[in-house]
Amino acid sequence: MNIITANNISKVYGNGDSAVKAVDDVSLELEKGEFLCILGRSGSGKSTLLNLLAALDKPTCGKLYFNGRDIINISGGELNKLRRKQIAVIFQFHHLLPYFTAEENVLLPCMNGITPVKNEHRNTARASLDIVGLSGKHNRLPNQLSGGEQQRVAIARAICSSPEILFADEPTGSLDKETGDSIIALLSELNKKGLTIVMITHQQDYAAAADRIINMENGKIKINSY
Ligand SMILES: Nc1ncnc2c1ncn2[C@@H]1O[C@H](COP(=O)(O)OP(=O)(O)O)[C@@H](O)[C@H]1O
Ligand SMILES: [Mg+2]
Repeated sequence: MNIITANNISKVYGNGDSAVKAVDDVSLELEKGEFLCILGRSGSGKSTLLNLLAALDKPTCGKLYFNGRDIINISGGELNKLRRKQIAVIFQFHHLLPYFTAEENVLLPCMNGITPVKNEHRNTARASLDIVGLSGKHNRLPNQLSGGEQQRVAIARAICSSPEILFADEPTGSLDKETGDSIIALLSELNKKGLTIVMITHQQDYAAAADRIINMENGKIKINSY
């Protein structure tokens, strides 16, 4: 079964003369375990499409299914559960909380508002930090970590709930080449362990890590290559 099926989804911002069709009648199927890369110029609709697929935003029209389940006509509670457990998102900027340690940043979303922190959660957070190569740095504050390490903490936070799919919007956008390479290598490794990944990138060479590449232009998929 597809993990994601999008049938003719569009997203229009604004209305009347100022309406912008950021995503224009896109259909897409994504299989479990795939690593999909989205390329395209700035303003072509990549982030808007990713936000729709990640259930962060609702399309203006069209149908969208996650593991065969309609996620447009879904209750708010169910949608929250899906976002908390199964769908993870990382961005160009990591949005770590500056006064919390790496471990606390990873812990916060998986704590689910439960205090005091349970050992079980702390162990999961540490295990996530181990996976991204930050063993021994769990007590550092974000400003005591390099840019690449900060992005690793954001990845650890994203995978802490053992999601099925990870969406990454230009995860290497603010990193130098070498650091960016190591983040892509980490994402490939996670994909090989079974995590489905959808990644936006500007860098053509990073797209090589993916199983499939789609190219966006004016809100539409122009090239779909395997
Ligand atoms: N919240 C918004 N309100 C109005 N227009 C938007 C909004 N977000 C994006 N857009 C417009 O939609 C188009 C696609 O944007 P975006 O998806 O961010 O492209 P990309 O990620 O490829 O740079 C652009 O023309 C952008 O200006
Ligand atoms: Mg974007």
